[in-house]
Amino acid sequence: MSSPDAGLPSSGWNDPSLAPTETDESSDSSLDQLDLETLADDDTTSDGEGANQGLFDDLLSGEPIFENKEVLRPSYTPHELPHRSDQINRIATILVAALRGETPSNILIYGKTGTGKTASAKFVSQELERTSEKYEVPCLVEYINCEVTDTQYRVLAQLANTFIEENRTLVDGQLDQLETLRERAREEPAMLGDTPFDDIDGIGTYATRLEERRDELEEVPMTGWPTDRVYTTFFEAVDFQERVVVIMLDEIDKLVEKSGDDTLYNLSRMNSELSNSRVSIMGISNDLKFTDMLDPRVKSSLGEEEIVFPPYDANQLRDILEHRANDAFKSDALSPEVIPLCAAFAAQEHGDARRALDLLRTAGELSEREGLDRVSESHVRKAQDKIELDRVVEVVRTLPTQSKLVLYAIILLERHGVHNVNTGEVYNIYKRLCEEIDADVLTQRRVTDLISELDMLGIVNAVVVSKGRYGRTKEISISVPIEETEVVLNSDSRLGDIEDIHPFVQSRFDS
Ligand SMILES: Nc1ncnc2c1ncn2[C@@H]1O[C@H](COP(=O)(O)OP(=O)(O)OP(=O)(O)O)[C@@H](O)[C@H]1O
Ligand SMILES: [Mg+2]
Repeated sequence: MSSPDAGLPSSGWNDPSLAPTETDESSDSSLDQLDLETLADDDTTSDGEGANQGLFDDLLSGEPIFENKEVLRPSYTPHELPHRSDQINRIATILVAALRGETPSNILIYGKTGTGKTASAKFVSQELERTSEKYEVPCLVEYINCEVTDTQYRVLAQLANTFIEENRTLVDGQLDQLETLRERAREEPAMLGDTPFDDIDGIGTYATRLEERRDELEEVPMTGWPTDRVYTTFFEAVDFQERVVVIMLDEIDKLVEKSGDDTLYNLSRMNSELSNSRVSIMGISNDLKFTDMLDPRVKSSLGEEEIVFPPYDANQLRDILEHRANDAFKSDALSPEVIPLCAAFAAQEHGDARRALDLLRTAGELSEREGLDRVSESHVRKAQDKIELDRVVEVVRTLPTQSKLVLYAIILLERHGVHNVNTGEVYNIYKRLCEEIDADVLTQRRVTDLISELDMLGIVNAVVVSKGRYGRTKEISISVPIEETEVVLNSDSRLGDIEDIHPFVQSRFDS
C-alpha cells in the first residue's frame, strides 16, 4: 500500500467514478458530446454510410491529449534509458566477450520491480545482436520469461525449438550458396579449384547431406517427451554450429520456485560438454533472496557477475517520464505539476518506473474522458487512487477461499461498528461463516497466520497492543475500502452463497 506521508495526499476511496468495475465505455463522454442533430441535418451524412464516417472522423479529430499512447505502455521498448548507463555499460562490458568468440561470464541482475532490469537487458541484447551481424560473428541472445515458461521441460523445449528454427534457416542459406556455386561451376569448372569441391557432383553430394541433416532436425512437442530426450535435442541444436549463445532468463526466481534448480544446473555445466558453441546465462530477478534456494554449485556459477539495479529517486523518475511524455502527449497537454507529482508518487512506491508511467497514462486517460485538453494535478491524484484500488481488487480477488472468509469476518465486524477487533472475535465469526458454506474450519492459530498474511498484503492492519496484566493482543482493522472489497468477496461463487449473515452477527453483539 502506498503510505500517505511525505506531504502527499491520502487516497480518496469514495470517489465513485474510480470504481474498477466501471468499464471504459460507460464513462466515456465523447460520444455524448456529438451533436447528433447537426449530423442529421447535414445532407451529405443523411445516408447511413456518411453518418458513420462523420462519427469516427469527429472522434479521431477530437484527440487533444495523446499523440501516441503506446509509448506509455509496458510493451513499448524505449530507445533511451536515462539513469541506467552504468548498469548497461557493465552488462555490455561482460557480454563483449561473445563478440570476440569467447564465453561471457554468467550474469545475475537484481533489483526491485520497475527498476528497468528487463528494459536494460533487452536493450543490451539488441545491441549485441546488431553488432554481431555487423562483424559477422555468430552470436545469439535468447529471451525467456520464466513467469510464463516455468518448468525445465518448457524452458528446454522452447530453447530447442528456437535453435532448430535458426539451424534450419542456416542450412537453407548454405544450400542457396551451394546452388549458386554449382551454377557458376557449370559455366566455369576451373573456379572449383578455390573451393573444397573436386567437381560438380561433389557439391551435389554435400548438398544432399545437408538436406538430410536439416530434415533430421525434429522439433520438441510441448509435452510428452522424457526430459533427457528434450535436453539432448536442445544440446544438439545449440551445438549445431560454432557460436556464442546468451540465454536470458527473466524472472528466474519464478522458475526456481516452481521447478527447482535442475534447469540452471544443467545449463550451467553445458559448456564442458559442448564442442562447437558456448553458452552463457543472464538471470534477472526482483527477489533478492532467491539464490538461497539454489544448490551452492549453481549459485556460484550463476552469480559470476552480479549487477544491482537500485530504485529510482523522484528526480530520476521525472527525467524518465519527461523523455517518454515528449513522444506520448500533444504539446501543452500536461500542466507543469503533472510529471513531478507522478514521479513523487512512484518514488514512494520504492522508485518504480512502471508505476510512474501507469500513473501518467491513467491521468491522461481520465482527463480525456472528461473531454478536457489538459491533464492537471487532480487527474494524477485520481489516477493514483484508481491504480491503488485496482491493485486491491486484484489482490482480494485472487486470495484463497480461507483468507477470503477471514477477511469477510473482519469486514462484517467493522460493518457492525466493532472496530479494532481482536483475533478471538474474528475467529468466532469466521467459524460461523465456514459452517454457512460447508468449508473446513481452520484452527485459531492458522487463522492468526492468515491475518498476518492479510496484513503483509496491506489489506488489514494488525497491531499488537499491550492490555496490561491481561497480556498482549492483536487489534485488527481494515485498511482498504470496505464496499468495494465486499463486492469482490461476494463475486466469489462460494462466498456469494452466504445468505444474510447480518442478523446473526448483530445478535452476537447484542447479547
Ligand atoms: N531508465 C528508464 N528509462 C525509460 N524507461 C524506463 C527506464 N527504466 C524503466 N523504464 C520503463 O519502466 C517500465 C518497467 O521497466 P522494466 O520492465 O525494465 O522493469 P523491471 O526492473 O524489469 O521490473 P520487474 O522486476 O517488475 O520485471 C518499462 O515500461 C520500462 O520501459
Ligand atoms: Mg522485468
